[in-house]
Amino acid sequence: MSYIENCNTHRQAIIDRFESPYVLENFFNKKEIEKLITFQFQNADRVKAQISSGNIQSVIDVPGMMKTQKWMNDKFKEVFSDYSRCHTGNFYITNQHHDAHVDLISEKEGLEHWAHNQIPFKSVVFPLYLSPLNAECHTAFMKQRRIGYAATFDKSSRSEQKDSDYKLYREYDGFIDINGNPLPTTNNSEDWTESKYPSITKESFSGFTEEMVIKQRVGDVMVFDACQVHASCQPEGTKDRWLKNGMNIQFYKTVPTIDK
Ligand SMILES: [Fe+2]
Repeated sequence: MSYIENCNTHRQAIIDRFESPYVLENFFNKKEIEKLITFQFQNADRVKAQISSGNIQSVIDVPGMMKTQKWMNDKFKEVFSDYSRCHTGNFYITNQHHDAHVDLISEKEGLEHWAHNQIPFKSVVFPLYLSPLNAECHTAFMKQRRIGYAATFDKSSRSEQKDSDYKLYREYDGFIDINGNPLPTTNNSEDWTESKYPSITKESFSGFTEEMVIKQRVGDVMVFDACQVHASCQPEGTKDRWLKNGMNIQFYKTVPTIDK
């Protein structure tokens, strides 16, 4: 079955694993962070500059990394116990806010054989380097979850996504809450202000409600549902000049393959 067919068949199992975001404090020590910073450059197949989201990514084979860096896999096994050997994810370097999105298997990846027995599970994001050290880099996790492909949400056509495989949604659909109940695709953008979400217009924010805002800290790992919409956030009164280097990894669950 295809990735999307599996998402439909196993929809309730995906929803049953939903939970609020949380932080694994001091998950990585200084040595491990240094190892990862070096790893991203020494093992990059190439470097990708994404003009639309203003970030530089060293392109890494993330499943390969989880295999060769056994220490990394061992650490996450302690948290999630059981997950597929397939992953998506990337390293990034940026001084800009990220718009609202979900990191999942893209439509292009969904065609690949490995994706045919995977369903979404968890996503992690962690900074490796922040400048200044106490940079006010925050991530807002929305109440909205969406089971499907990787997606960027932008009603005001700011994003172009020419250099991204993420599907760009100009109109939103399929939002559900933590219990799997449908949520409206528009609202009054009550949690939005321009200083909090400089890269998202009020119009594009319509449909989203904050569930939790977390400040990034080197060593900590933010854990959330892979289907959960999230975006960079600049809380009122915090300084918006910073540079961050970090990584995100998605974890999937394997489901039995049923040949048609
Ligand atoms: Fe993300």
